[in-house]
Amino acid sequence: MEKTLVIIKPDGVERGLIGEIISRYEKKGLKIVACKMIKANREILEKHYAEHKGKSFYEDLMNYMMGGKVLVMVLEGNNVIQLIRKMHGSTNPIDADMGTIRGDFANKTTENIVHASDSKESAEREIMIWFS
Ligand code: CMP
Repeated sequence: MEKTLVIIKPDGVERGLIGEIISRYEKKGLKIVACKMIKANREILEKHYAEHKGKSFYEDLMNYMMGGKVLVMVLEGNNVIQLIRKMHGSTNPIDADMGTIRGDFANKTTENIVHASDSKESAEREIMIWFS
């Protein structure tokens, strides 16, 4: 069964959206097979966001992700990678459809509440980083 890594980012945790977000996954029939709440350090975030190093938003992204606790999960289900990305909506909340998590709850591109792996390769890599 396909697996993906999801992070509820510090703004999602701080705003009390964990229950709302998880209930959407569960209602969709997706299974949480691992879950932990942690304060992420720079080392793990540098690995996770390696592809964005050097981009204009990288430092803001690092500071934001280290600014509070995150809920990290592995979700399992049929086509879970594509499904979750559809449920999250576009990275930029302006482009995210209403009814998606970012469309309903986010108004900034950096503070966009949730992260999900974008491919099978990313999912394997990211699950190793957070749950090895
Ligand atoms: P995420 O899905 O976690 O992947 C990379 C993150 O970087 C993204 O969500 C946003 O939080 C952030 N991000 C991506 N593009 C931009 C951008 N153009 N400006 C600011 N932040 C961005």
